[in-house]
Amino acid sequence: MKTPKRIQPLIDEGLVDEVLRPLMSGKEASVYVVRCGGEIRCAKVYKEASQRSFKKAAQYQEGRKVRSSRRARAMEKGSSYGREQAEESWQNAEVDALYKLADAGVRVPQPYGCFDGILLMELILDEDGDVAPRLNDIQLTAEQARRDHKTMMQHILRMLAVGLVHGDLSEFNVLQDSQGPVIIDLPQAVDAAANNNAQWMLERDVNNITQYYAQFAPELAATKYAKEIWALFEAGNLNPNTELTGQFTESEQKADVGAVLDEINAAFAQMQERKERQQAANEQD
Ligand SMILES: Nc1ncnc2c1ncn2[C@@H]1O[C@H](COP(=O)(O)OP(=O)(O)O)[C@@H](O)[C@H]1O
Ligand SMILES: [Mg+2]
Repeated sequence: MKTPKRIQPLIDEGLVDEVLRPLMSGKEASVYVVRCGGEIRCAKVYKEASQRSFKKAAQYQEGRKVRSSRRARAMEKGSSYGREQAEESWQNAEVDALYKLADAGVRVPQPYGCFDGILLMELILDEDGDVAPRLNDIQLTAEQARRDHKTMMQHILRMLAVGLVHGDLSEFNVLQDSQGPVIIDLPQAVDAAANNNAQWMLERDVNNITQYYAQFAPELAATKYAKEIWALFEAGNLNPNTELTGQFTESEQKADVGAVLDEINAAFAQMQERKERQQAANEQD
């Protein structure tokens, strides 16, 4: 096919030899099947920020480490340089997460780098050698659903053990190859220790995946993996090989109202401080 303009620089650099066909055009990106030497891979071309539909970027980016403080300041100010940097850090977040997760034994596509806003990665295939389907396109037996659900819970645990929560996990962002589920689409992965939204995002990820498999094995709906995994994380007891049970007993202790109020006050003070800093920064401009 005719080479899309965005991919041309990678051809000029010799990173890609040929674009074979478009695979999917999603809300955040267009994905193409490409040939790199003797290998068939896939190229994910991120849409420009203005065309993206992902609205809550700030929620996900909280606590994300930026490589230099000059960059961080530019991003906070929202200058055009800052916007460029934010764009770049968004794109690098996915390739960084893929390398980290592949190392941690989570099944994700093998990444081959991110260049000019284009992520090159392994093309996931099914047992017939066709592009692997997403979970929402397949039917499973109850036995398969139980086995794959267990695998996914273990993958989510391993992700958290290296400090990451996917943040957009559902049957639309998991492919099925001959070995089982493969997790994709990670530009919004959040840093669990630094992001206050991490807990509810982990819960949402676990619940989405559990509800999907529970269509085929209804008893899965009663499991409590999210709470179990988060409790291990908070207690500093998270080991990538922990055998999860899916059971969790809520603490019977009375809520400590004083402690909750202290937390609210601290959060309020922090917000106030931030506002003041922001104001000071604006006045400097
Ligand atoms: N490594 C891959 N192998 C096979 N198909 C893929 C791969 N990555 C993405 N896809 C296909 O492209 C679609 C969009 O990719 P995704 O990373 O989910 O981006 P978006 O943000 O647009 O949802 C996926 O739903 C999947 O069908
Ligand atoms: Mg997706």
